[in-house]
Amino acid sequence: MVADTPEALIAPAADVPARERLPQHVAIVMDGNGRWAQQRSLPRTAGHREGARTVRRIVQACNERGIGALTLFAFSSENWQRPRPEVEVLMNLFMTTLRGEIRRLDDANIRLRFIGEPSAFPSTLQDYIAKAQRRTAGNTGLTLVIAANYGGRWDIARAARRVSEEVLAGRLRCEQITPDTLRHYTCLADLPEPDLFIRTAGEQRISNFLLWQMAYTELYFTERLWPDFGPADLDAACAAFAGRERRFGMTGEQIARGRRA
Ligand code: IPE
Ligand code: IPE
Ligand code: MG
Repeated sequence: MVADTPEALIAPAADVPARERLPQHVAIVMDGNGRWAQQRSLPRTAGHREGARTVRRIVQACNERGIGALTLFAFSSENWQRPRPEVEVLMNLFMTTLRGEIRRLDDANIRLRFIGEPSAFPSTLQDYIAKAQRRTAGNTGLTLVIAANYGGRWDIARAARRVSEEVLAGRLRCEQITPDTLRHYTCLADLPEPDLFIRTAGEQRISNFLLWQMAYTELYFTERLWPDFGPADLDAACAAFAGRERRFGMTGEQIARGRRA
């Protein structure tokens, strides 16, 4: 029997260097732009503009801290249901932000990727997305993933469709479809799964974000609205993450024993 107290099991292991306790992949639902604007009697779109500034700050902060990947939920497959003028402003904002930021991102050695269904976007935006991905593909710093017209259920359905095509082509047998095989057909299969999920603005839900990839992600919710979210809030989330004990179905004792080994 291991004689660890529950406190010792929950506390972060003192011998684990801080860098190893840093989440390698952070996924964020950037929520609260509309409320930020409403609190100031501004149109909701002013909140989205301010939110875009936060993206720049947080991307830089993640890159500086040595976080490997950051996935930002920018537009969900359900967000098309918003009033048309708001959707149009969001599309224009994506375009202008992408155009204005790509050089800075490239200079900072950031690799930009998009997940989601691009075909619904205006064709100029689709071109920018493709160009931005090509231009930064060889960069080795932070991988910045923008989830745009993305939905977790879309991702899983797409994986199922792709795997069915392999079966129909005779390249895969049905018995070979396991969680590990299906995983390869989901978005971000080449990245580590998110370690830390952050949602701003007080809502405690996933809203169809990375359903498959977040099976063992640590969840962190903050009241802070996205336009007000800053590097200190990111650090607070990372500190909370560092204090969590991830058990992946095992017991606390097994985890503590693994740490000492
Ligand atoms: C998140 O902020 C941005 C997008 C969904 C594009 P919201 O626009 O959802 O802000 P609230 O939830 O209305 O405050
Ligand atoms: C989730 O936020 C999607 C994005 C942040 C892009 P929403 O504001 O759309 O989520 P719900 O509707 O409150 O669940
Ligand atoms: Mg919202």
